Amino acid sequence: MPEYDFSGQVAFVTGAAHGQGRSHAQHYAKHGADVVVTDISRDVDTVPYGLGSSDELEKTASLVEDEGQEALAIEMDVRDELDVEPAVERAVDEFGRIDILANNAGIFTAADMTEMTEEQWDAMIDTNLKGVWLSAKHVGQHFIERGDGGKIVSTSSTAGLVGSPSAGHYVAAKHGVIGLTKTLALELAEYDVNVNAVCPTVVNTPMVSGMTEAYGEEMLAEIGELSGPFNIFDLEDPGMEPRDISEAYMWLSSDAARYVTGIALPVDAGFSSK
Ligand SMILES: NC(=O)c1ccc[n+]([C@@H]2O[C@H](COP(=O)([O-])OP(=O)(O)OC[C@H]3O[C@@H](n4cnc5c(N)ncnc54)[C@H](O)[C@@H]3O)[C@@H](O)[C@H]2O)c1
Repeated sequence: MPEYDFSGQVAFVTGAAHGQGRSHAQHYAKHGADVVVTDISRDVDTVPYGLGSSDELEKTASLVEDEGQEALAIEMDVRDELDVEPAVERAVDEFGRIDILANNAGIFTAADMTEMTEEQWDAMIDTNLKGVWLSAKHVGQHFIERGDGGKIVSTSSTAGLVGSPSAGHYVAAKHGVIGLTKTLALELAEYDVNVNAVCPTVVNTPMVSGMTEAYGEEMLAEIGELSGPFNIFDLEDPGMEPRDISEAYMWLSSDAARYVTGIALPVDAGFSSK
């Protein structure tokens, strides 16, 4: 494992109850950071699979502590500024600073664009796009006030690079994350803040198992044409592991990537080379 050193730093991770967010939290802790783990910790009406729970969020906090680091668990809905602003303030009050924002929280639902409900559209855009902006807004304000730089890494997707059937709202949100990343990179450059996005292909998480259960193999196979068949490497079903994305997060959060900003880094087993 590369020797990143985040000692004395604080990472703020959204969507940390399970899946990739939990892995990112554990990786930051392994490399010496204290970690604020946040999650909505309840289900959302339009999402047909289970989101993270309070118990899972507490478990992530204990996994951070197992690495010898301090953890703070906060239940926070990324869609709601009335949740996000006080969560960021509480993190800064308790730890004195935030150095890294890991903008990971997200949902998936499936519907063709001609059949999608307004509720599905709004929940997706509010979570996967507005949520990324709200966390970046408030952690970004902290970075500006502190004047000591910072890192923002956000999860887009291969669906941020191309279209995908039955997921136009997800595609729109994930393309939006890349535009937001580039804009934040320009706006925050003078404050020494690096802002980047990561674009994973299929990752083995509760999102994917939940989607498979909710929508069935057939619809997923159609959506999967987006990623699986194009992979250069033969990914074992159902895809990469969360740690594969965490490694990209660690690099982009470290000084090893100090001149990298405004990019969308594919971690996609070659998908975007085709
Ligand atoms: N799994 C994949 O194949 C895949 C591929 C590309 C990109 N992504 C993206 O990676 C990120 C992580 O996904 P995952 O696979 O770990 O999914 P997951 O469902 O396993 O975990 C997502 C976490 O986000 C939380 N969350 C959802 N809505 C929230 C809200 N409004 N406020 C706060 N927390 C909320 C959930 O409770 C859950 O703990 C997402 O942005 C997702 O879109 C996933």
